[in-house]
Amino acid sequence: MSGFVTLWDKNGRIIYISKAVEQLLGYKVSELLGAKWHELIPSSDASYIKGHFDTTENVKQVFNINVPNIYSKNIWTENLVTTIQDEHGNHYYISCTKDITDKKEAEEMMIRSEKMSVAGQLAAGIAHEIRNPLTSLKGFLQLLQAGVKREDAYHHIMVDEIEKMENITSELLFISKPMTNHKEMENLLEMVEDVVTLLEPQARLKNIEIQMKEISSQNVKCDRSQIKQVFINILKNAIEAMDDPGCIKISSYPHKKGVLTDIIDEGPGIPEEIIHKLGEPFFTTKQNGTGLGLMITRQILERHGGELEILQNEEIGSTFRVILPVS
Ligand SMILES: Nc1ncnc2c1ncn2[C@@H]1O[C@H](COP(=O)(O)OP(=O)(O)OP(=O)(O)O)[C@@H](O)[C@H]1O
Ligand SMILES: [Mg+2]
Repeated sequence: MSGFVTLWDKNGRIIYISKAVEQLLGYKVSELLGAKWHELIPSSDASYIKGHFDTTENVKQVFNINVPNIYSKNIWTENLVTTIQDEHGNHYYISCTKDITDKKEAEEMMIRSEKMSVAGQLAAGIAHEIRNPLTSLKGFLQLLQAGVKREDAYHHIMVDEIEKMENITSELLFISKPMTNHKEMENLLEMVEDVVTLLEPQARLKNIEIQMKEISSQNVKCDRSQIKQVFINILKNAIEAMDDPGCIKISSYPHKKGVLTDIIDEGPGIPEEIIHKLGEPFFTTKQNGTGLGLMITRQILERHGGELEILQNEEIGSTFRVILPVS
């Protein structure tokens, strides 16, 4: 892992940068001296830092930034930044920058392999769910071929069946794609509905009903593919935890911390002795589990300033609570 140190004056101009920057980003030290920090990084990162920077002296802050090198290739960096003062009271900023591209790539690869494994695990349920509408489509086509004169009614049903298949396959394709990283205002209810569409076949195979109760239609600033992944991982666990037919309830409501979404199952609950292990990489009690689901869930929520709480239900099962900040 390589890195470099930078010193800025109070106007944000570079007054010192170590030579290692040449190797990491391809720029010459002489080209960078005098340059302003925010001209070197993407503008969205620059405005994030401006909004969150604490100028109190000696307070260390970490910012992860994608810095383009001289060939416009993005390098993931971790920057430890602090404000210092000299004996005359002049302010400077100092940062230690580390190249964390390898770490990021490994993380992305792990998320990608988990996503593919989820897609694979859902395939059986989905194939089953698609076979039913296909059978009915075939039946109606045969009736029409035989000359039955109820075209209008049949066409209507056929379009409905095709739409069902379209929805579910597009959800499957969506989760098979690499995750994006682009935050926008997204509707919580829509994201939960999409995830339920995708997982309902799996639930139906086990006679589990998914009930959505009063889902808040609050908008949250988030990356849609990532937050959907969070709900997929939790809902999939809830289905897997239940051996008997029953019900999974999803509800969400505003709270002073943001908006909470509870996914309440009727499984065996989580034994006291393993609760602290949930979210550790590769911790699983399942034969075909990768043990990455909750770790990725926590990682994604952290990136969004959110949280995951795991609660034991009074009577039966557990509740996984997703907390997302509302801007
Ligand atoms: N709703 C739940 N009820 C009971 N136990 C749960 C529940 N959710 C998770 N767990 C426990 O937490 C463990 C870790 O979950 P996690 O989602 O991280 O991995 P996994 O489900 O085992 O594997 P994968 O998600 O990769 O298929 C599970 O193996 C299970 O023991
Ligand atoms: Mg899981």
